[in-house]
Amino acid sequence: MSVGAPKIPVRVAEVVEVNALIKRFRFVRRDGGPMPVFSGGAHVVVDMDDHGTRRMNPYSLMSDPADTSGYEISVRRDDAGRGGSLFLHRHVTPGMDLVISSPVNLFPLDARARKHLMIAGGIGITPFLSQIAALSRLGGRFELHYSARTRDLAAYADDLTARHGDKVRLYLDDQGQAIDLNRLLQGQPLGTHLYVCGPKGMIGWVCRTAESLGWPKSAVHSEEFLAPPVGLPFQVQLATSGKTITVGPAQSLLEAIEAAGVDAPYLCRGGACGECETDVLGCDGQIAHNDHWLTDEQKVGNTKIMPCVSRFQGKTLILDR
Ligand code: FES
Repeated sequence: MSVGAPKIPVRVAEVVEVNALIKRFRFVRRDGGPMPVFSGGAHVVVDMDDHGTRRMNPYSLMSDPADTSGYEISVRRDDAGRGGSLFLHRHVTPGMDLVISSPVNLFPLDARARKHLMIAGGIGITPFLSQIAALSRLGGRFELHYSARTRDLAAYADDLTARHGDKVRLYLDDQGQAIDLNRLLQGQPLGTHLYVCGPKGMIGWVCRTAESLGWPKSAVHSEEFLAPPVGLPFQVQLATSGKTITVGPAQSLLEAIEAAGVDAPYLCRGGACGECETDVLGCDGQIAHNDHWLTDEQKVGNTKIMPCVSRFQGKTLILDR
Protein backbone atom coordinates (compact mmCIF):
# COMPACT_ATOMS: atom_id res chain seq x y z
CA MET A 1 0.00 0.00 0.00
CA SER A 2 1.26 3.49 -0.82
CA VAL A 3 1.32 6.31 1.69
CA GLY A 4 0.43 9.70 0.20
CA ALA A 5 -2.23 12.35 0.61
CA PRO A 6 -5.75 10.88 1.11
CA LYS A 7 -7.50 9.86 -2.12
CA ILE A 8 -10.59 11.28 -3.83
CA PRO A 9 -12.63 9.17 -6.30
CA VAL A 10 -13.45 11.49 -9.21
CA ARG A 11 -15.18 11.47 -12.58
CA VAL A 12 -13.77 13.25 -15.61
CA ALA A 13 -16.32 15.99 -16.34
CA GLU A 14 -14.61 17.68 -19.27
CA VAL A 15 -11.57 17.36 -21.53
CA VAL A 16 -10.58 20.39 -23.61
CA GLU A 17 -7.83 20.59 -26.22
CA VAL A 18 -6.09 23.86 -25.32
CA ASN A 19 -3.46 23.72 -28.07
CA ALA A 20 -1.41 21.16 -30.03
CA LEU A 21 0.39 19.97 -26.89
CA ILE A 22 -1.89 20.72 -23.94
CA LYS A 23 -5.22 19.31 -22.80
CA ARG A 24 -7.26 20.52 -19.85
CA PHE A 25 -9.11 18.02 -17.62
CA ARG A 26 -11.91 18.83 -15.18
CA PHE A 27 -12.59 16.42 -12.31
CA VAL A 28 -15.68 16.30 -10.09
CA ARG A 29 -16.37 14.03 -7.14
CA ARG A 30 -18.13 10.80 -8.01
CA ASP A 31 -20.44 11.24 -5.01
CA GLY A 32 -21.43 14.74 -6.18
CA GLY A 33 -20.01 16.41 -3.06
CA PRO A 34 -17.67 19.41 -2.91
CA MET A 35 -13.94 19.06 -3.45
CA PRO A 36 -11.66 19.93 -0.52
CA VAL A 37 -10.57 23.56 -0.42
CA PHE A 38 -7.01 24.13 -1.60
CA SER A 39 -4.60 27.05 -1.82
CA GLY A 40 -3.08 28.44 -5.03
CA GLY A 41 -0.01 26.50 -6.11
CA ALA A 42 -1.25 23.13 -4.82
CA HIS A 43 -0.99 19.92 -6.85
CA VAL A 44 -2.76 16.58 -6.92
CA VAL A 45 -1.40 13.17 -7.88
CA VAL A 46 -3.50 11.50 -10.58
CA ASP A 47 -3.64 7.72 -10.20
CA MET A 48 -3.98 5.95 -13.57
CA ASP A 49 -4.29 2.34 -14.62
CA ASP A 50 -2.54 2.39 -17.98
CA HIS A 51 -3.49 -1.05 -19.30
CA GLY A 52 -2.11 -2.81 -16.22
CA THR A 53 0.68 -0.31 -15.43
CA ARG A 54 -0.05 1.98 -12.51
CA ARG A 55 0.96 5.56 -13.18
CA MET A 56 0.80 8.29 -10.53
CA ASN A 57 1.75 11.72 -11.82
CA PRO A 58 1.60 15.09 -10.01
CA TYR A 59 -0.18 18.01 -11.71
CA SER A 60 -0.71 21.55 -10.44
CA LEU A 61 -4.29 22.62 -9.88
CA MET A 62 -5.12 25.55 -12.14
CA SER A 63 -8.74 26.23 -11.19
CA ASP A 64 -9.90 28.89 -8.76
CA PRO A 65 -9.25 27.62 -5.20
CA ALA A 66 -12.63 29.06 -4.16
CA ASP A 67 -14.44 26.81 -6.64
CA THR A 68 -15.13 23.55 -4.81
CA SER A 69 -17.38 22.18 -7.58
CA GLY A 70 -14.38 20.60 -9.33
CA TYR A 71 -10.64 20.71 -9.98
CA GLU A 72 -8.89 21.46 -13.25
CA ILE A 73 -5.42 20.48 -14.43
CA SER A 74 -3.61 21.04 -17.71
CA VAL A 75 -1.35 18.34 -19.07
CA ARG A 76 1.39 18.84 -21.63
CA ARG A 77 1.88 15.76 -23.80
CA ASP A 78 5.39 14.34 -23.48
CA ASP A 79 5.96 11.97 -26.38
CA ALA A 80 9.35 10.88 -25.00
CA GLY A 81 8.13 10.43 -21.41
CA ARG A 82 7.19 7.26 -19.52
CA GLY A 83 3.56 7.38 -20.56
CA GLY A 84 1.49 9.25 -17.93
CA SER A 85 0.80 12.32 -20.06
CA LEU A 86 0.25 10.16 -23.16
CA PHE A 87 -2.28 8.05 -21.26
CA LEU A 88 -4.19 11.17 -20.19
CA HIS A 89 -4.11 12.60 -23.71
CA ARG A 90 -5.05 9.40 -25.54
CA HIS A 91 -7.30 7.47 -23.19
CA VAL A 92 -8.93 9.76 -20.64
CA THR A 93 -12.33 10.98 -21.80
CA PRO A 94 -15.38 12.58 -20.17
CA GLY A 95 -17.33 10.17 -17.95
CA MET A 96 -14.26 8.11 -16.99
CA ASP A 97 -13.56 7.37 -13.33
CA LEU A 98 -10.16 8.11 -11.83
CA VAL A 99 -8.66 8.52 -8.38
CA ILE A 100 -6.70 11.62 -7.41
CA SER A 101 -4.93 12.56 -4.18
CA SER A 102 -6.11 15.38 -1.94
CA PRO A 103 -4.29 18.63 -2.78
CA VAL A 104 -0.84 19.25 -1.33
CA ASN A 105 0.81 22.64 -1.63
CA LEU A 106 4.60 22.72 -2.05
CA PHE A 107 4.51 26.08 -3.88
CA PRO A 108 2.29 28.39 -1.81
CA LEU A 109 2.12 32.16 -2.01
CA ASP A 110 3.94 33.78 0.89
CA ALA A 111 1.40 35.77 2.88
CA ARG A 112 4.14 38.16 4.05
CA ALA A 113 4.81 39.39 0.51
CA ARG A 114 3.82 42.96 -0.36
CA LYS A 115 3.95 42.03 -4.03
CA HIS A 116 4.10 38.68 -5.87
CA LEU A 117 6.39 38.64 -8.91
CA MET A 118 5.69 35.52 -10.98
CA ILE A 119 7.82 34.08 -13.77
CA ALA A 120 6.36 31.20 -15.79
CA GLY A 121 7.78 29.13 -18.64
CA GLY A 122 5.48 27.01 -20.83
CA ILE A 123 3.27 24.59 -18.89
CA GLY A 124 4.77 26.13 -15.71
CA ILE A 125 1.92 28.64 -16.02
CA THR A 126 -0.54 26.27 -14.30
CA PRO A 127 0.15 26.91 -10.57
CA PHE A 128 0.07 30.64 -11.24
CA LEU A 129 -3.47 30.41 -12.65
CA SER A 130 -4.89 29.29 -9.31
CA GLN A 131 -2.69 31.74 -7.40
CA ILE A 132 -3.77 34.65 -9.61
CA ALA A 133 -7.43 33.69 -9.17
CA ALA A 134 -6.95 33.86 -5.39
CA LEU A 135 -4.94 37.10 -5.47
CA SER A 136 -7.49 38.79 -7.75
CA ARG A 137 -10.28 38.02 -5.35
CA LEU A 138 -8.30 39.29 -2.36
CA GLY A 139 -6.90 42.35 -4.13
CA GLY A 140 -3.32 41.06 -3.80
CA ARG A 141 -0.60 42.78 -5.80
CA PHE A 142 1.00 40.63 -8.51
CA GLU A 143 2.79 40.75 -11.83
CA LEU A 144 3.19 37.78 -14.21
CA HIS A 145 5.98 37.39 -16.78
CA TYR A 146 5.10 34.46 -19.02
CA SER A 147 7.46 32.99 -21.59
CA ALA A 148 6.41 30.49 -24.29
CA ARG A 149 7.81 29.15 -27.55
CA THR A 150 5.06 30.52 -29.78
CA ARG A 151 1.76 32.37 -29.41
CA ASP A 152 -0.15 29.13 -30.12
CA LEU A 153 1.67 27.33 -27.30
CA ALA A 154 1.16 30.15 -24.79
CA ALA A 155 -1.78 28.44 -23.07
CA TYR A 156 -4.25 30.79 -21.36
CA ALA A 157 -2.24 33.89 -22.34
CA ASP A 158 -5.20 35.57 -24.08
CA ASP A 159 -7.47 35.01 -21.11
CA LEU A 160 -4.86 36.25 -18.63
CA THR A 161 -4.19 39.38 -20.67
CA ALA A 162 -7.91 40.09 -21.12
CA ARG A 163 -8.55 39.76 -17.40
CA HIS A 164 -5.47 41.32 -15.91
CA GLY A 165 -4.18 43.77 -18.55
CA ASP A 166 -0.72 45.12 -17.92
CA LYS A 167 -0.15 42.89 -14.89
CA VAL A 168 0.60 40.18 -17.46
CA ARG A 169 3.56 40.36 -19.85
CA LEU A 170 4.06 37.71 -22.54
CA TYR A 171 7.41 36.79 -24.13
CA LEU A 172 7.48 34.63 -27.28
CA ASP A 173 10.69 32.81 -28.21
CA ASP A 174 9.87 32.78 -31.95
CA GLN A 175 9.56 36.57 -31.86
CA GLY A 176 12.96 36.88 -30.20
CA GLN A 177 11.36 38.24 -27.03
CA ALA A 178 13.08 37.54 -23.70
CA ILE A 179 12.61 38.63 -20.11
CA ASP A 180 15.10 41.35 -19.12
CA LEU A 181 15.61 39.59 -15.81
CA ASN A 182 18.27 41.83 -14.28
CA ARG A 183 16.18 44.89 -14.91
CA LEU A 184 13.00 43.21 -13.72
CA LEU A 185 14.50 41.98 -10.45
CA GLN A 186 16.32 45.23 -9.75
CA GLY A 187 13.17 47.29 -10.17
CA GLN A 188 10.99 45.65 -7.54
CA PRO A 189 9.69 47.31 -4.37
CA LEU A 190 10.88 46.13 -0.97
CA GLY A 191 8.88 43.15 0.29
CA THR A 192 8.42 41.58 -3.17
CA HIS A 193 8.51 37.77 -3.33
CA LEU A 194 9.65 36.02 -6.50
CA TYR A 195 8.07 32.79 -7.81
CA VAL A 196 9.29 30.76 -10.77
CA CYS A 197 7.87 27.63 -12.40
CA GLY A 198 8.95 26.23 -15.75
CA PRO A 199 11.80 24.31 -17.35
CA LYS A 200 14.85 23.46 -15.26
CA GLY A 201 17.09 25.93 -17.15
CA MET A 202 14.70 28.79 -16.49
CA ILE A 203 14.38 28.02 -12.78
CA GLY A 204 18.17 27.86 -12.40
CA TRP A 205 18.62 31.13 -14.32
CA VAL A 206 16.03 33.00 -12.27
CA CYS A 207 17.26 31.67 -8.90
CA ARG A 208 20.94 32.35 -9.72
CA THR A 209 20.17 35.87 -10.96
CA ALA A 210 18.09 36.64 -7.86
CA GLU A 211 20.91 35.40 -5.63
CA SER A 212 23.52 37.43 -7.49
CA LEU A 213 21.38 40.55 -7.04
CA GLY A 214 21.11 39.95 -3.30
CA TRP A 215 17.53 38.69 -3.09
CA PRO A 216 17.09 36.83 0.22
CA LYS A 217 16.58 33.08 -0.27
CA SER A 218 13.37 33.29 1.76
CA ALA A 219 11.83 35.58 -0.87
CA VAL A 220 12.55 33.29 -3.83
CA HIS A 221 10.21 30.34 -4.49
CA SER A 222 10.41 27.76 -7.24
CA GLU A 223 8.65 24.59 -8.28
CA GLU A 224 9.79 21.93 -10.68
CA PHE A 225 8.53 18.37 -10.56
CA LEU A 226 11.02 16.16 -12.31
CA ALA A 227 9.73 13.33 -14.45
CA PRO A 228 11.27 10.02 -13.31
CA PRO A 229 13.82 9.15 -16.02
CA VAL A 230 13.74 5.94 -18.01
CA GLY A 231 16.84 3.71 -17.84
CA LEU A 232 18.20 0.21 -17.61
CA PRO A 233 16.38 -2.18 -15.25
CA PHE A 234 18.01 -2.75 -11.86
CA GLN A 235 17.50 -4.84 -8.71
CA VAL A 236 17.06 -3.52 -5.18
CA GLN A 237 16.94 -5.33 -1.83
CA LEU A 238 14.37 -3.95 0.62
CA ALA A 239 15.87 -4.85 4.01
CA THR A 240 12.88 -4.14 6.28
CA SER A 241 10.34 -6.03 4.21
CA GLY A 242 12.80 -8.71 3.14
CA LYS A 243 11.94 -8.39 -0.55
CA THR A 244 14.06 -8.08 -3.65
CA ILE A 245 12.47 -6.08 -6.45
CA THR A 246 13.32 -5.34 -10.07
CA VAL A 247 12.77 -1.80 -11.32
CA GLY A 248 11.71 -1.81 -14.97
CA PRO A 249 13.09 0.53 -17.66
CA ALA A 250 10.05 2.86 -17.63
CA GLN A 251 9.22 2.37 -13.95
CA SER A 252 10.41 4.50 -11.04
CA LEU A 253 11.95 2.88 -7.96
CA LEU A 254 9.02 4.24 -5.95
CA GLU A 255 6.54 2.59 -8.33
CA ALA A 256 8.41 -0.70 -8.07
CA ILE A 257 8.36 -0.53 -4.25
CA GLU A 258 4.62 0.18 -4.34
CA ALA A 259 4.02 -2.63 -6.82
CA ALA A 260 5.71 -5.02 -4.37
CA GLY A 261 3.13 -4.03 -1.72
CA VAL A 262 5.59 -2.13 0.48
CA ASP A 263 4.61 1.14 2.22
CA ALA A 264 6.42 4.12 0.73
CA PRO A 265 5.69 7.74 1.62
CA TYR A 266 5.49 10.43 -1.09
CA LEU A 267 3.98 13.82 -1.84
CA CYS A 268 5.38 15.21 -5.09
CA ARG A 269 6.70 12.09 -6.86
CA GLY A 270 9.09 14.48 -8.63
CA GLY A 271 12.23 14.81 -6.48
CA ALA A 272 11.22 18.08 -4.83
CA CYS A 273 9.48 17.55 -1.48
CA GLY A 274 11.77 15.20 0.44
CA GLU A 275 8.92 12.99 1.62
CA CYS A 276 10.19 9.76 0.05
CA GLU A 277 13.78 10.09 1.39
CA THR A 278 15.07 6.62 2.18
CA ASP A 279 18.23 5.41 3.92
CA VAL A 280 20.69 3.44 1.80
CA LEU A 281 22.04 0.52 3.84
CA GLY A 282 24.36 -0.87 1.19
CA CYS A 283 25.51 0.30 -2.21
CA ASP A 284 27.94 -1.38 -4.56
CA GLY A 285 27.47 0.68 -7.71
CA GLN A 286 26.34 4.11 -8.79
CA ILE A 287 23.13 5.90 -7.80
CA ALA A 288 21.81 8.40 -10.36
CA HIS A 289 20.14 10.70 -7.82
CA ASN A 290 18.28 13.10 -10.17
CA ASP A 291 16.55 14.93 -7.29
CA HIS A 292 16.46 18.53 -6.00
CA TRP A 293 16.33 17.46 -2.38
CA LEU A 294 19.54 15.81 -1.17
CA THR A 295 22.67 17.83 -0.50
CA ASP A 296 25.73 17.26 -2.71
CA GLU A 297 27.39 15.59 0.29
CA GLN A 298 24.50 13.15 0.72
CA LYS A 299 24.55 12.39 -2.99
CA VAL A 300 28.27 11.71 -3.09
CA GLY A 301 28.11 9.63 0.13
CA ASN A 302 25.23 7.48 -1.26
CA THR A 303 23.68 7.37 2.21
CA LYS A 304 20.20 8.47 1.07
CA ILE A 305 18.07 8.00 -2.03
CA MET A 306 14.84 9.56 -3.34
CA PRO A 307 12.98 6.59 -4.87
CA CYS A 308 10.59 8.78 -6.87
CA VAL A 309 13.28 9.91 -9.34
CA SER A 310 16.54 8.05 -8.62
CA ARG A 311 17.95 5.05 -10.49
CA PHE A 312 20.87 2.69 -9.87
CA GLN A 313 23.51 0.94 -11.90
CA GLY A 314 25.71 -1.67 -10.25
CA LYS A 315 25.84 -4.84 -8.24
CA THR A 316 23.93 -4.27 -4.99
CA LEU A 317 21.59 -1.63 -3.59
CA ILE A 318 20.02 -2.24 -0.16
CA LEU A 319 17.38 0.17 1.16
CA ASP A 320 15.73 0.63 4.56
CA ARG A 321 12.20 -0.20 3.34
S1 FES B 1 8.02 12.13 -3.29
FE1 FES B 1 8.73 14.17 -3.18
S2 FES B 1 10.89 13.91 -3.35
FE2 FES B 1 10.12 11.92 -3.69
